[in-house]
Amino acid sequence: MRYVKRVSRSKAKVGADALDCAHIGCSGAVCRDLDAGLNGAQSGYQAARQHPGRCLVVNVLLYRALWGLGFTPWERRQAWAEQVSAMFDGEEQGRQPPYGAALDLGCGTGFWSVDLAERGWEVTGVEIVPKALRAARERAQKAGVEVRFLEGSVASLRDADAGFGFRLVLDLGTVHGLAPAEVKAVAGEVNAVTTDDATLLMYAFSPGRKGPTPRGLDREEVEAAYAGWRVVDEQPFDTSGMPALFKKADPRWYRLRRD
Ligand SMILES: C[S@@+](CC[C@H](N)C(=O)[O-])C[C@H]1O[C@@H](n2cnc3c(N)ncnc32)[C@H](O)[C@@H]1O
Repeated sequence: MRYVKRVSRSKAKVGADALDCAHIGCSGAVCRDLDAGLNGAQSGYQAARQHPGRCLVVNVLLYRALWGLGFTPWERRQAWAEQVSAMFDGEEQGRQPPYGAALDLGCGTGFWSVDLAERGWEVTGVEIVPKALRAARERAQKAGVEVRFLEGSVASLRDADAGFGFRLVLDLGTVHGLAPAEVKAVAGEVNAVTTDDATLLMYAFSPGRKGPTPRGLDREEVEAAYAGWRVVDEQPFDTSGMPALFKKADPRWYRLRRD
């Protein structure tokens, strides 16, 4: 990845060759793309000024710090387990295992990767933080299942040798904090590695908040990033048992199909 120097907000200009990103080490291409906008009345640049989302470098630094501190509130599984299980059930209905190849984007400690492997999927988990990956490998070993865990970025799946032919992709809270151009970059990679009938299960905060939590994605942005996919299901995420920051973020589930 190519990084450019930090540019302060006060000096930045809006334009094709200006960077308005206070993030350290953000790639020029990504920041320029913020100005291009996604679609709709509000340009990506304006959206970015409200809550820019994180460029990849900042995101990685942040998650390294969170994993290092052991502050991983998304790991409270009480509320998640039933909901996620129901989403997986929907993908397995009427089929027999093995179900095919599944890709877990930002797999963390591999909870869902291992769950999918136990259900009969052939799973690859991609994660940027080595500490989380070590725990994921241990989890798979303890469970006695094989999962391919890779260190790499979800925005560079092919560079990470993630492979091809995935029928199911999970994005459970990984991409919704990224800047618009980064979200599109991930979608491009997902397009490159999935089958023509693939499903993407995504969990994302709703946008509209300020502060350090992920900026969130709304359906419009999800659909714009994943052109060629259809949102076939959208549901509120049940936040009972989750920390207050999750409740305030009004998270949603999306099921997208590529057909
Ligand atoms: C909110 S956590 C969710 C983890 C997991 N999906 C789960 O539900 O337990 C987001 C995960 O994505 C990882 N991550 C963030 N940016 C990434 C990137 N660019 N490439 C790969 N993993 C990333 C983080 O380290 C973290 O483990």
